[in-house]
Amino acid sequence: MATPAETFRQQFGVGGRCFSAPGRVNLIGEHVDYNAGIVLPMAIGLRLWVWASPRSDRQLHVIAHDLGETDVLDLDAPGRRTGTWRDYLAGTAFHLEAAGFRLTGANLLITSDIPTGAGLSSSAALEVAVGFALLTLAGHTVDRLALARAGQAAEHDFVGTRCGLMDQFVVAHGRAGHAVWLDCRSLAFDFIPLDTNQCAVVVADSGVKHQLAASEYNTRRQECEAALSVLQRLFPDRTTLRDVTEAELAQAAGMLSDSLLQRVRHVVTEIGRVTAFAQALRASDWTQSGALLTASHRSLSEDYAVSCPELDALVAAAREIPGCYGARLTGGGFGGCTVNLVAPEALDAFLREVPRAYAQHTGGTARMWVVQPAAGVGEMD
Ligand code: GLA
Repeated sequence: MATPAETFRQQFGVGGRCFSAPGRVNLIGEHVDYNAGIVLPMAIGLRLWVWASPRSDRQLHVIAHDLGETDVLDLDAPGRRTGTWRDYLAGTAFHLEAAGFRLTGANLLITSDIPTGAGLSSSAALEVAVGFALLTLAGHTVDRLALARAGQAAEHDFVGTRCGLMDQFVVAHGRAGHAVWLDCRSLAFDFIPLDTNQCAVVVADSGVKHQLAASEYNTRRQECEAALSVLQRLFPDRTTLRDVTEAELAQAAGMLSDSLLQRVRHVVTEIGRVTAFAQALRASDWTQSGALLTASHRSLSEDYAVSCPELDALVAAAREIPGCYGARLTGGGFGGCTVNLVAPEALDAFLREVPRAYAQHTGGTARMWVVQPAAGVGEMD
């Protein structure tokens, strides 16, 4: 079978430059990016690849290699919300141009190792890799923050998910051997070393793709906005939930419905857990890091209501294994993956026993990946 590079040459008659962006797993800091909170994700070794060559017109001729599909997009007439993969490309290109980066047409071939719909940011990888390729072909120096923002804007008005900036940011900025600490209010960021010889990071896919994920995600955002406007009656200078303390929340509790109180409680406590986790990670305190993961899962499940029985079962199965420091759902929720911190000597048993227990409890198949913190988007040699 032809390699992607060979297919590119056959289809377009020229060789392509190769660009690649990673998937990501969020270690902690879930559903706080759009509340101006702090997050701690890492880019992972599963990657998406784009082969690209310039065209002299304003068209994108695209081969979605894994799907066996092709499409032609016009940079001057990007269609919105087609419900297909072209929305991610059209949206990113459109928003890069809106940010002042004039693009040229391109031939593109896309292929990916990142499972779609599993919460590992295959879509952010697509946006960021294609955006990086288009910026490079047009001769621009890549501004990684502008690139991440263009991907996020594509999600908002071409795809229809009002996501935060975390996924695109880490896909654009990831560094091998490090987790990325990001303050979503100031956009200050830092890299924290993560030595997987000391503690393995395992991603487990529940195999569940919840149909409501996108609509429920947007609902959570609305709930946060509604809760904020109630809290502002008491604390008028608060502009995001990031600014609200646990003490203030307790003071305002009677003004919020039970469910809004729970949503805010998750956001406020989760931001506290990220700070504690960053400290524990820097100190290689895996017991504490794991305990924070598990507390995060409980909060996401009980207060933020974004888990599902399968994710709860996968976390419970992980926690049964001696040497598992902690486990939680990762990403938006409603299906997708868990992230697990596991002592290296317990890894074999973990990889063997968790899928077995998960199958026993749910009848489902859990795919497992032992992941390494990886580099962000870039051009390959
Ligand atoms: C999705 C979004 C992110 C973030 C997470 C939840 O991955 O794309 O912006 O909100 O959900 O933490």
